[in-house]
Amino acid sequence: MKHALVTGATGFIGHHLVQRLLAQGTAVKCLVRSESRSADLTQLDVKLVKGDLVDFKSLAEAVKGVDVVYHLAGLTKSISKTDLMNVNGQGARNLSLACSQSKCPPTLVLVSSLAAAGPTKNGDPRVETDAVNPISNYGRSKRAGELAVIDLADEVPTTIVRPPIVFGEHDRDGFQWFKMIRQLGIHLTPGLQDYYYSVIHADDLASALILAAERGARVDRRSEDNVGIYFAACDEVMTYSDLGRLIGDCVGRSRTRVLRMPMCVIRGVALTSDLWSRVRRQPTILNLDKAREAAGGSWVCSSSKLCSETGFTPSASVEERLRQTADWYIGKNWL
Ligand SMILES: NC(=O)c1ccc[n+]([C@@H]2O[C@H](COP(=O)([O-])OP(=O)(O)OC[C@H]3O[C@@H](n4cnc5c(N)ncnc54)[C@H](OP(=O)(O)O)[C@@H]3O)[C@@H](O)[C@H]2O)c1
Repeated sequence: MKHALVTGATGFIGHHLVQRLLAQGTAVKCLVRSESRSADLTQLDVKLVKGDLVDFKSLAEAVKGVDVVYHLAGLTKSISKTDLMNVNGQGARNLSLACSQSKCPPTLVLVSSLAAAGPTKNGDPRVETDAVNPISNYGRSKRAGELAVIDLADEVPTTIVRPPIVFGEHDRDGFQWFKMIRQLGIHLTPGLQDYYYSVIHADDLASALILAAERGARVDRRSEDNVGIYFAACDEVMTYSDLGRLIGDCVGRSRTRVLRMPMCVIRGVALTSDLWSRVRRQPTILNLDKAREAAGGSWVCSSSKLCSETGFTPSASVEERLRQTADWYIGKNWL
């Protein structure tokens, strides 16, 4: 039986990964920060280990006896650039260091992000050998996490997976799109130009992560081809407007209107929302950092390398997955 540690198991993607690992008979330990946030996990056949990415000692204890560490924990939004760097950058370093000090270092699968690589200027899908150019604080912090684990890759067998936008059941941030479209029949699109996006459903990402652990190459610090780094996305690429219309179809708003917002308006709204979130000390997804990403161009990547090296294929179309997600939100009375 395989033994895995999942960090970020209380989060959106972590939820999907844990279910999938359990279904295939893996013994799962989850690193959790607080009991209040881990109530759902206590219903599952998993072991909870208390720890925090910024507390090295707790990580050394958590990685003991596992074959694979799936590192999902991180901040996707924050009111502080320093927090992003501490958790996504230094946190990844701490975890990799803890793995390296283990008697038999486990395989480390780091969930990074397309944001660590940056947008595509001409709309061509990014591939792993492209030079990176993160344009947001979030992207730079995820890149810092990549560099930290690459640094220790001689001691810890490491694979890095970079997803684009992830959607699916349990996602609270993506839910805001579905909610606005269902309630108002309106899809707000940033900018006057149509950019293209890659997306992936969280279940497909979970299977990509497991395949990356089982069959993926490991990072080789000396290689110039970024061996052991993979983008994981659906083949389909769509504009933000198309995504909104598809969601509209799925939530019973087939005449959803796409409202294009000039970037200066988006920046103004994001600035206000940012200031308000600082006052409340509660991060929001509508922030200046995300506005920077929205203005950056298309966010498209190719999974060809992951598919050819691990056999990964998404198990349903984006439309089917959006419908499944919408049905879940409706079934749970979120919508
Ligand atoms: N969602 C996306 O569209 C997307 C796209 C690309 C990449 N990613 C990456 O995928 C990963 C998971 O994202 P997600 O959407 O599932 O995020 P999420 O729902 O916000 O979950 C984040 C998880 O990280 C944990 N965490 C945060 N700070 C921690 C710390 N200091 N120590 C230990 N655990 C900590 C949280 O634990 P608590 O419950 O205790 O807060 C939670 O379990 C992240 O690394 C993110 O950068 C996400």
